[in-house]
Amino acid sequence: MTHYLIKGARPLGGDAVDVLVADGRIAAIGDQLSATGAEVVDAAGLIALPGLVDLHTHLREPGREDAETVETGSRAAALGGFTAVHAMANTDPVADTAGVVEQVWRLGQEAGLVDVVPVGAVTIGLKGERLAELGAMADSAARVRVFSDDGHCVADPALMRRALEYVKAFDGVVAQHAEEPRLTVGAQMHEGERSARLGLTGWPAAAEEAIIARDVLLAEHVGARLHVCHVSTAGSVEILRWAKSRGVQVTAEVTPHHLLLTDACAESYDPVFKVNPPLRTDADVEALRAGLADGTIDAVGTDHAPHAVEDKESEWAQARPGMLGLEQALAVVIETMVEPGRLDWAGVADRMSVRPAAIGRLDGHGRPLAPGEPANLVLVDPAARAAVDPAALASRSRNSPYAGREVPGRIVATFLRGTATVLDGKATR
Ligand code: DOR
Ligand code: ZN
Repeated sequence: MTHYLIKGARPLGGDAVDVLVADGRIAAIGDQLSATGAEVVDAAGLIALPGLVDLHTHLREPGREDAETVETGSRAAALGGFTAVHAMANTDPVADTAGVVEQVWRLGQEAGLVDVVPVGAVTIGLKGERLAELGAMADSAARVRVFSDDGHCVADPALMRRALEYVKAFDGVVAQHAEEPRLTVGAQMHEGERSARLGLTGWPAAAEEAIIARDVLLAEHVGARLHVCHVSTAGSVEILRWAKSRGVQVTAEVTPHHLLLTDACAESYDPVFKVNPPLRTDADVEALRAGLADGTIDAVGTDHAPHAVEDKESEWAQARPGMLGLEQALAVVIETMVEPGRLDWAGVADRMSVRPAAIGRLDGHGRPLAPGEPANLVLVDPAARAAVDPAALASRSRNSPYAGREVPGRIVATFLRGTATVLDGKATR
C-alpha cells in the first residue's frame, strides 16, 4: 500500500504541518517529517479536513442506472471530498429489505471510492402504510442505522410514532422528509408572492413546519432520535431551536442549494431549479445560514438527486424535482458560510464530517486529524475558483444548478483509509 507524505497542509485551517499516511492511518503529524519510499503530496496552502460525510445522497441503483450508479455517484462523492455517503432508499426496488440494503452496501464496497452506507426505508415500498423490516436491515451486513422514506413524508402520526419506538431499540434514527402531503398537492415551487405571479401552485412553508413540530413532540414523547432532512424555512429553524432547548433528541440538515439559491431562480422556468422542498426566500436563506452557524442545524446534507435528461429537461410542471450536489457541496459552503465569516474551517469539519458521522453512528469517519486515526481526509485549495462545467462532472446526470457559476474551493485530494481516491483533483480509479 502506497504511503503518502503530505507536506505543508493546514489541518482545520491551522498552522502548516506535514502528515504521514501509512497503512490506512495517520501515522504521524509534525514539522519536516520525512519518510523513505512515501509518495510526496505538495499541500502548501491547502486546508486539511476530515473526509466529508453526506447523510443524504440519491445513488439511483438499483433501478435507474441511467441516471446514476453506486460507482458513478461514489466517484462524484470522492471528487467532492466525501469519504462516506448515505444512500437514500427510494430506489427501484425500494431499499426496504435486508437483501436490497446489502446489495447497495456490496456495490459500494466494490466501487471502493467512499463508504456507501445504505439508508433503509421506514415503510414498505415508501407507501406510508406498513413498517418495513427495520430490525432485519439493522442486523444485516449493511448495519443500517438511518431510516427514511425520503421523497415521501411518513405522514401518518401513529406510524411515525411506531417507527421511532422501533429504531430506539438499536439506537437508530428516523430521517423525516417533512412535507404534509395534504398541503402540497400539485405544488411546483415555494408558495408566496412569486408563485402567485408566475401562476405555479405553491408549497407552503407550513407544510414542512407542521410535520417538524409534530415529529419533535413525538420524538420527545418516545425518547427516540429524529433527524430532519433538508430543512428549508426560517420557521423550521425556530421550531428546531425550541425543540433542542427542551432537550429533544433531534438533529437536522440543510442542503447546499437551500443555503445559496432562492425562489427567484424559478423566474427562469428552468426545471434545473425545481427541487423538493423548493427553493425559498432570501429571509429563509438567511435563517438557514444562521441556524447552521449556531448549530441549530447540525449538518449539511447534499440531497444529491441525479435525473436523466428526459426526466428533467421538460416543461417545469412535468420535470422531476432534484439537483446534483456532491461535487459542489463544499464550494457552496465555502461561499455561503466561510467567506462571509460565519463558519471557520473547524466549523466546516464539524457540520460536514463530525456531526453527520455521529448522526449516522459511523465509526472511523468524522474523527480528529491525529496520529493513529483512520486516514479519511480531504485537501482543499480555498483560493482556487473555477466555473462549474456540467459536462465535466463525474455524475452520470447533468442537472447541476451551478452550471457556469464560478465557485471557490478546489478539492485537490481525498483519502479513504489511506488510499487516495482523488489526487491532483482527479479520481484515481
Ligand atoms: O428534490 C428532491 N429529489 N427531493 C426529494 O425529496 C427526492 C429527490 C429525488 O429522489 O429525486
Ligand atoms: Zn427529501
